[in-house]
Amino acid sequence: MKAIILSGGKGTRLRPLTYTGAKQLVPVANKPILWYGIEAIVAAGVTDIGIIISPETGEEVKTKTGNGDRFGAKITYILQDKPAGLAHAVKVAQPFLGDSPFVMYLGDNLVQSELDLFLESFRAKNLDALTLLCPVANPSAFGVAKVDEEGRVLQLVEKPKDPPSNLALVGIYLFSNVIHHAISCIQPSPRGELEITDAIQYLIDQQKKVEAYQLKGWWLDTGKKDDLLEANRIILDTCLNSAMLGEVDEKSQVIGRVQIGPRSKVVNCTIRGPVTIGSDCYLENCFVGPYSSVADQVTLIDADLEHSVILQGAKVVGIQQRIVDSVIGQRAHLKVAPQRPKALRFLIGDDCQIELA
Ligand code: DAU
Repeated sequence: MKAIILSGGKGTRLRPLTYTGAKQLVPVANKPILWYGIEAIVAAGVTDIGIIISPETGEEVKTKTGNGDRFGAKITYILQDKPAGLAHAVKVAQPFLGDSPFVMYLGDNLVQSELDLFLESFRAKNLDALTLLCPVANPSAFGVAKVDEEGRVLQLVEKPKDPPSNLALVGIYLFSNVIHHAISCIQPSPRGELEITDAIQYLIDQQKKVEAYQLKGWWLDTGKKDDLLEANRIILDTCLNSAMLGEVDEKSQVIGRVQIGPRSKVVNCTIRGPVTIGSDCYLENCFVGPYSSVADQVTLIDADLEHSVILQGAKVVGIQQRIVDSVIGQRAHLKVAPQRPKALRFLIGDDCQIELA
């Protein structure tokens, strides 16, 4: 069994965070989304992993993620020259996959893992495709499946206007090698992509064994700001262990589950977990409230925040009002003068959202 993780594509929905970086590297609880997928695959016993990358963000994904040693896996990077669809990515990965059955994992999905059960069922029933499904309120935003009582998939449609059910395709699939033939038989969809849903539909039409497994845990497609904050909340809630590797002075109060990374300094602050703070940060006179993730090299002075994600190298100084439900991008600076400001001075990038509520 091998695995491919799709980490190409454009990532327009998380703009402006993903203008310069890969959306799969946006951190949730200070860990890139992509790494959760790698860890889940390795935990299910699959260690030969191909990662699909794009020309624009591939180098960043490679540099950050490495050859797999840190995960106990062997990672092969596979360049897809354009984001021509999920089935196109499988086509590009075929030399890596050979005739092996494989897991396909979308690199921007976060799933409470049941991958081992999913794999067991695929093997035991000798299936050609197994899809993972989750009921959602807005099925039109996803691939949608219609299944019978025994879990056999009858129909699959990509982002239908008129969905045949409320069961969305979660971004994890298992395939036998017959998928390659199916992909060679389909045409690009009206949006110009080779759709994996069309390839699976082809298998269904050829009477191949295609089944679905309903996800029991949570699933987050981290495409938008609120999804990212929700993913951050769930991961901090369920997976964070306390660790104090930085320095906290005696005037500070650290309450609940809090992680503070090496060389970070906390001076006269209250930190109420669950909170994770990366390495090389400086925090002074701050309140950092529950469900906040502060990445490496962040400076927070005279600031007050909760339920927010602050990315690497950002600086927030002198904001007296509480910052809530916010995502602050890498190296962004937010500063208010100590006296009541008489003017607001901005340099705001394209697609940013500022709300003085
Ligand atoms: O998240 C679940 C949904 O993912 C499914 O319900 C849909 O059936 C499936 O088509 C997919 O829809 P999205 O519109 O969310 O796919 P997106 O374009 O965001 O791509 C998913 C991942 O695959 C993302 O990490 C980028 C990567 N990708 C995408 C394309 C189109 C590639 O690596 N290459 C590509 O050509």
